[in-house]
Amino acid sequence: MILVTGGAGFIGGNFVLDWLKDPSNEGIVNLDKLTYAGNLATLESLKDDPRHIFVHGDIGDEVLVAKLLKEHQPRAIVNFAAESHVDRSIHGPADFVSTNIVGTFNLLECAREYWNGLDGAEKKAFRFHHVSTDEVYGSLSATDPAFTETNSYEPNSPYSASKAASDHLVRAWFHTYDFPVVTTNCSNNYGPYHFPEKLIPLVILNALNGKPLPIYGDGQQIRDWLYVGDHCSAIREVLAKGKLGETYNIGGWNEKANIDVVKTICTILDELQPRLDGRSYIEQITYVKDRPGHDRRYAIDASKVERELGWRPAETFDTGIRKTVQWYLDNPDWVEGVVSGSYRDWLQKQYS
Ligand code: NAD
Ligand code: DAU
Repeated sequence: MILVTGGAGFIGGNFVLDWLKDPSNEGIVNLDKLTYAGNLATLESLKDDPRHIFVHGDIGDEVLVAKLLKEHQPRAIVNFAAESHVDRSIHGPADFVSTNIVGTFNLLECAREYWNGLDGAEKKAFRFHHVSTDEVYGSLSATDPAFTETNSYEPNSPYSASKAASDHLVRAWFHTYDFPVVTTNCSNNYGPYHFPEKLIPLVILNALNGKPLPIYGDGQQIRDWLYVGDHCSAIREVLAKGKLGETYNIGGWNEKANIDVVKTICTILDELQPRLDGRSYIEQITYVKDRPGHDRRYAIDASKVERELGWRPAETFDTGIRKTVQWYLDNPDWVEGVVSGSYRDWLQKQYS
């Protein structure tokens, strides 16, 4: 078994689905708190798969985590669980401290105790893979070189500060206890099952629903976009071959200004599902108040993971964004379940 946390969220869900597609991979225990961002509909295709064990719970629950480790004896933990939305962290940072920092601390401590009890080959093979973000490095100017693993940490939002703190804990557990960790710091992901409060899915759905497409500030902020399937393949590589105690930057070499991303989505929708009035979705673009403390530019230098582990993304932005728009057009039921509130009702019924 491997233990995945946050595997009902966007990237964790994609990781679980991709992992279990390969019959030679072992099973997954998937621990997820099912916050607003967790969605069991993402895992619907696994409902009869005995290799997937879903556990509804919190990474901060010491008793539960210790029990799961004892019961399933995983050979690795991949920690996706987090509060992940920068805007939410500005409105309410407490959950970010609680899950991203205290939750990761609890997971590390439970895992360390479990690992201490392993012997021989099992102890040597064990891995704790911490999934983190490029936002810990802060913001770049237009001419700065892309982030490398040696950039200093300069987080600017409550979200990135909480992720930076968790990265520091992971690093310290390696240096102090020889606990076998690897960390990946990835750029902005997009793709299927992305919760529609983040830019790309929000724009696709607002466009189709005739709503404004909100652009913060001047729309010239730059993000470095990576298709989620490529992030999952990078995690598999690092988990299999990454050097203990190392961090690896993961990115798609796809720097884009927000306004250009939104215009690209509009153009694809104009082709795949034209507006009834024949006009372009671009007309729905609306400039709104900027995000407080909005980081101007992120860019990942992913040459270390390519050089040392041979990983490169398979998708370009053009291929990945087209697949993504098509996925949202093809999956109205998933979207409806997430946005209508019926999914919350179902959870109440199923888990209360
Ligand atoms: P997400 O918000 O879509 O999913 C997070 C998942 O974690 C949800 O299923 C949620 O229910 C679960 N969760 C939250 N708190 C929990 C807790 N206390 N215990 C157990 N489960 C809990 O996030 P995502 O976009 O899939 O991001 C996954 C990870 O990747 C995060 O650690 C994030 O920081 C990191 N990351 C995200 C991106 C991105 O672009 N989305 C990029 C780089 C790194
Ligand atoms: O860089 C990696 C990070 O990418 C991850 O660590 C985070 O978990 C993930 O949420 C993402 O953070 P961002 O803040 O970059 O993603 P978001 O989709 O919220 O915003 C992308 C850009 O678009 C950002 O510059 C803000 C802008 N934006 C966002 C929204 C929701 C808008 O202009 N309008 C919007 O309505």
